[in-house]
Amino acid sequence: MSLEKELLALAVDVAYEAGQLAHRRRSEGVSIAATKSVLADIVTEADREVELLIRERLAEARPDDGFLGEESGAAPGLTGASGVTWVVDPIDGTVNYAFGIPVYAVSIAAVTGDPDPAHWTGLAGAVFAPALGEMFTAARGEGAHVGNERLQVQEPAGDAGALLATGFGYDPATHAGDIARLSRVMPLARDIRRLGAASLDLSFVAAGRLDGYFERGLNPWDHAAAGLIVQEAGGRFGGPGGQTASPTMTIAAAPGLFARIERALDD
Ligand code: IPD
Repeated sequence: MSLEKELLALAVDVAYEAGQLAHRRRSEGVSIAATKSVLADIVTEADREVELLIRERLAEARPDDGFLGEESGAAPGLTGASGVTWVVDPIDGTVNYAFGIPVYAVSIAAVTGDPDPAHWTGLAGAVFAPALGEMFTAARGEGAHVGNERLQVQEPAGDAGALLATGFGYDPATHAGDIARLSRVMPLARDIRRLGAASLDLSFVAAGRLDGYFERGLNPWDHAAAGLIVQEAGGRFGGPGGQTASPTMTIAAAPGLFARIERALDD
């Protein structure tokens, strides 16, 4: 079995177990453990518990790999003798999770190279949405799937415009800029969605449920797995002007629509 397929099999097993734990904790009621950068940026007890479980399972299976997780940062001493780093968001869509909206996911990616999106190469990624019962996966060179179904990104058909998704930063100081960018892209859209979980926005682009997605302010763990899923589904994923995805801007769509979103953002 190739390394990519081996890593994917592990990512899927761990994402499934972690997703079941998140789902169970949600049904027991959620408590907010802390706020992070700003008041709206929350972390629940479940985020921490789920990340710990993922970290333990990965360390048991592959002790020489590095780890970069949303809640715990880089693991000291585990910067990856193997050259592989796991990039993990234990619960992407934490605000949905806390409010009982079933649009949240466990996101687990394996990358090689410096664990920075500008330098890494994605090898495998799993995005599991336990409340939706869907597992999105990709391994480099092996395509992208939801369950057993192969995914293929398509350019939007017809003249009605594209179904686009975006997100807004938690920091109120960023809202005016995000809304101004949305107004510039709006002429391309038949409608806009704000699902609240970037890993699922991206997985839905791969699955053709959304035509395109753009967002400022994404962190590496939000897109590490699902960016690969978009690419393996034949979509383009990155930043504007040939840059990699970064907090400045992340775009995903079929190549023609990607270029139109890029131009609209630049106007
Ligand atoms: C957030 C979600 C949200 C996006 C934010 C992310 P989190 O991740 O993906 O949709 O708009 O930029 O930070 O905090 O729920 O893991």
